[in-house]
Amino acid sequence: MVKIAPSILSADFAKLGDEIRDVEAGGAAYIHVDVMDGHFVPNITIGPLIVDAIRPVTQLPLDVHLMIENPDQYIPAFAKAGADIITVHQEACPHLHRTIQLIRDNGVKPGVVLNPATPAELVKGILPDVDMVLVMTVNPGFGGQSFIHSAAEKIKQLAEWRKEMNLDFEIEVDGGVNTDTAKICTDFGADVLVAGSAVYNKENRKEAISSIIDATK
Ligand code: DX5
Ligand code: ZN
Repeated sequence: MVKIAPSILSADFAKLGDEIRDVEAGGAAYIHVDVMDGHFVPNITIGPLIVDAIRPVTQLPLDVHLMIENPDQYIPAFAKAGADIITVHQEACPHLHRTIQLIRDNGVKPGVVLNPATPAELVKGILPDVDMVLVMTVNPGFGGQSFIHSAAEKIKQLAEWRKEMNLDFEIEVDGGVNTDTAKICTDFGADVLVAGSAVYNKENRKEAISSIIDATK
C-alpha cells in the first residue's frame, strides 16, 4: 500500500505537536519536514531546533527534505536532532556522492531530490547508494502549488532503473499531490506520497489521508 507523508509545512505551527499526533493517528507513514533556507528556495522555514522538538512527539520516521545550499554543513545537526531520512537536492550538491555518504555516516538514510526541470539521468549513477529518490512535482518553496505532470513522468524511468539494477530505494513524490493526482504517481511506480495542503487544509486528517490512499486504488 502507498505510504502517505504529510508535510508539516501546511500545519498550524502554533500547535505543531498536536498537528503531528493528529496525522500519526490518521494513518501517516512518515512526517515530512520541509527545510528551506531563503537561498536555494525563496522561503525560510525550519531548522534542526524544530526537528529536535518534534522528535519525541511521534514514533514515525522524520523525513527531512533539505531545500538548502551547502547541505553538508547542516547534515550532522539534523542527524543529531533525530532525522531518520535526509534528502538533498541534486541541484544543490556538486559532490553528491560525498553528501550521500555523509548522511549515511551520520546514521541516517540518504535520499536525493530532483527539481521538476532536472532530468532523471543526472541521478542514475547514485541510485545504488540511496534509500530514497524524491521527485518534485512542483518547484520547491511553497505548499499549495499545482502538480506538474511532465515532472511526474520521471517516476516511471526511476522505477524501471530500480528493477533493472535490482535496487530497492523508495520513490517519493512531492508537490501538488491530492486525490486527483495521487494515482498518476502510484501508476508510474511511486511508493510514498508527500501531501501538505491536501492533508492539513482538511478538517479531518484521517479522512484526508484515507481518501488519498483510496484514490490510488
Ligand atoms: C514544496 C515542499 C512540499 C510542500 C508540499 O517546496 O517541498 O513538501 O509542503 O505541499 P503541497 O502538498 O501542498 O503541494
Ligand atoms: Zn518537501
